[in-house]
Amino acid sequence: MERHLAWDGDIAARIISEWKSREGALLPILHALQEEFGYIHPAATALVADALNIGRAEIHGVITFYPDFRQAPPAAHSLKLCRAEACQSQGADRLARQAQDALGIGFGGTSADGKVQLDAVYCLGLCSVAPSAMLDGRIVGRLDDGKLASLLTEAGQ
Ligand code: FES
Repeated sequence: MERHLAWDGDIAARIISEWKSREGALLPILHALQEEFGYIHPAATALVADALNIGRAEIHGVITFYPDFRQAPPAAHSLKLCRAEACQSQGADRLARQAQDALGIGFGGTSADGKVQLDAVYCLGLCSVAPSAMLDGRIVGRLDDGKLASLLTEAGQ
């Protein structure tokens, strides 16, 4: 799991000033802030708006337009389940429902305790050992009820 710094306005201001004079600085700044803190803190909008002399609404529009930008801290664990064909033919749908029920969320959601983000992926390159999953960057093949339960336990559920 990637480690991020807690939000710090001074560090954010430093990142912004490193990028602000470059052409088309908005997206690189937002990416750099997210890389550092794991998300775009609400206070970043005002800092970026002042530095680039653009409106907050424009920045908010960019943040909400690109699905890669997060507006809240990332969950402690990332569980991805493969939904592509080879995995589907080996029971991935049933496992997906099981994971969603256990976490009480759909794909793209974060569990209420903030510990697990659940995402769908489309092929992890492990088709020969489908169905496949990934927990915090570690890939797992031949997913079954027992392995899914272990992954959820590992993720604090
Ligand atoms: S289809 Fe799931 S790993 Fe390839």
